Amino acid sequence: MSISEKVSNESGKKTRIVVIGTGAVGSTTAYTLLLRERMSELVLIDYNQAKAKGDALDMNHGLPFTGKVDVWAGDYSDCAGADIIIISAGVAQKQGETRLDLLKRNVDIFNHIVEEVMKYNDTGILLVATNPVDIMSYFTWKKSGWPSNRIIGSGTLLDSARFRYLIGEKLDVDPRSIHASIIGEHGDSEVPLWSLANFAGLPLELNEDDKKEIFENTRDAAYQIIEAKGSTYYAIALALDRICTAILRDEGAVLNVSTLISSYHNMSDIYLGVPCIVDRTGVREIITLPLTEEEEKQLQKSGNKIREMIESISE
Ligand code: 2OP
Repeated sequence: MSISEKVSNESGKKTRIVVIGTGAVGSTTAYTLLLRERMSELVLIDYNQAKAKGDALDMNHGLPFTGKVDVWAGDYSDCAGADIIIISAGVAQKQGETRLDLLKRNVDIFNHIVEEVMKYNDTGILLVATNPVDIMSYFTWKKSGWPSNRIIGSGTLLDSARFRYLIGEKLDVDPRSIHASIIGEHGDSEVPLWSLANFAGLPLELNEDDKKEIFENTRDAAYQIIEAKGSTYYAIALALDRICTAILRDEGAVLNVSTLISSYHNMSDIYLGVPCIVDRTGVREIITLPLTEEEEKQLQKSGNKIREMIESISE
C-alpha cells in the first residue's frame, strides 16, 4: 500500500490501529497488519506491559524490511483518535473447552477494557475477536453505548474462509473463487449455506458425504488446531486484517462479520455472523439471504443459543 493510502482522506491525519491484548491472536494480527502496511501507526496494549513492549520492539526491528509504520507499546490514552481498536484480549480457549465456557471469564476483562477505551475515543470502530465472539461483541456494544455499526465482531468470516478452503481443496479450485458462507454463531451451532454455495455461478458438485465431511471439518477446525498446537492465530489474523482493510479503504466489501441484527429472519437484539457490507462507517448494511427451510431452522437454533448465552450473562 502506498503512503497516501495510509492517511485518511478527510484531514490528511495518520491512520491508527490499536490492538488490545497481544496474546497469540493480537500479536499475530498486529504483525499481519504491519507486513501489509495497513496503517501509519500501530499501538499495542496488553495487561502484561512487558509482553506488549517486547512485541513492539521485535516488530520495530523489522521496519527496515517493511514500509514506514510507527509501532509502539502504549496505554489506553493512545486510543484517542484511533480509527480501529481491535480487542483480542481475554483468556484463551483451553483444549476441549467450548467457546461458551470462556464467556464469564472474558466478560469481566471486557468490562474494564471497554470502560478505558470509552474515556479516550468515541468515533472509532471497535473490532472484537475475543471468544465467544458474538457475545463479546454484543456485550461491547451494550457497554459502549456506541451505534452498532461501529462495533463489529469477527463473526463467521474465519469459518467461511475455512469452508471455502475445504470446498476448494475437494474441487481443486482456488478458494478465492469459491463463494460459500457460514452464518450464525462463530461456534458449534454455525450454519453452512449449501443452497447458495457456488463457483462461477455453478452449483457445487458434491455428494452428501463430501458435504458432511467439509462442514464438520469447518465447524471443528478450531478444536483440531487447538488440540494440535494450543491455539489458532494465523487465519484469524488474516480475517481481521481483511475487515480492517475493508474499513480503511471504504470498500463496501461483503464480509460475514458479527453484527447487531434487528428483525433479521425473525430475530432481533443479538449479535450474529451474517453477510454485511463493510466500509468506512463499519457495518453499512446487513444482507438478508433467501434461505431454505432447513437453513432457516438451523439459523434460528443458532440465534436462540446466542440469546440464551446473552441472558446467562445478564442475570
Ligand atoms: C477459531 O475459530 C478459536 O475461534 C477461534 O480459530
